[in-house]
Amino acid sequence: MKTIQDYIRTIPDFPHKGIMFRDVTTLFGDPRGFRIAINQLLHPYAGQPIDKVVGLEARGFILGGAIAHQLSVGFVPIRKKGKLPGTTIEQSYTLEYGEAIVEVHDDALQPGEKILLVDDLLATGGTAEAGIKLIERMGAEVVGCAFIIDLPDLGGRAKLEKLGMDVHALCQFE
Ligand code: PRP
Ligand code: ADE
Repeated sequence: MKTIQDYIRTIPDFPHKGIMFRDVTTLFGDPRGFRIAINQLLHPYAGQPIDKVVGLEARGFILGGAIAHQLSVGFVPIRKKGKLPGTTIEQSYTLEYGEAIVEVHDDALQPGEKILLVDDLLATGGTAEAGIKLIERMGAEVVGCAFIIDLPDLGGRAKLEKLGMDVHALCQFE
């Protein structure tokens, strides 16, 4: 039986030399792979109140949309700067290979709402940390951070756990 890891393709030297890019499109493209990934991402949060799912651009939208649908709650996108049409709040962060700013609509979350944050991959944790900061700046509470892949060598899990986050990942790549 194939594991989650078996569905993920690795592309060397993308987008820069030296990066082993973990490509989840092969997981998303497989009906069994996609279904078990969504089910396993949801499993730790069964019975826990979640008001909204927040997804990080871009692959967090695909996962977050499916998870929000399954939970019958709303989905909120955190996007790279300049993509959202309404009034936003923004947060800068550093990546494994670059720098960026993410933003969210300033009326997308309400104070006290319980949020599940979702993305495909946790590397340095910079993107997820920026997401957590945006969610918390709006007065909402992150009850969990769920990823398909953790790259433990890059320290993202440690960074998020230091912030008091519950971190859940389906597999790791060294
Ligand atoms: C990837 C991945 C995460 C982020 C993780 O996205 O999907 O969002 O990097 O890296 P970090 O833990 O070091 O912050 P990417 O920035 O490549 O953007 P994309 O999804 O828009 O392609
Ligand atoms: N984002 C940051 N590092 C990555 C990697 N190695 N593969 C896919 N997405 C990433």
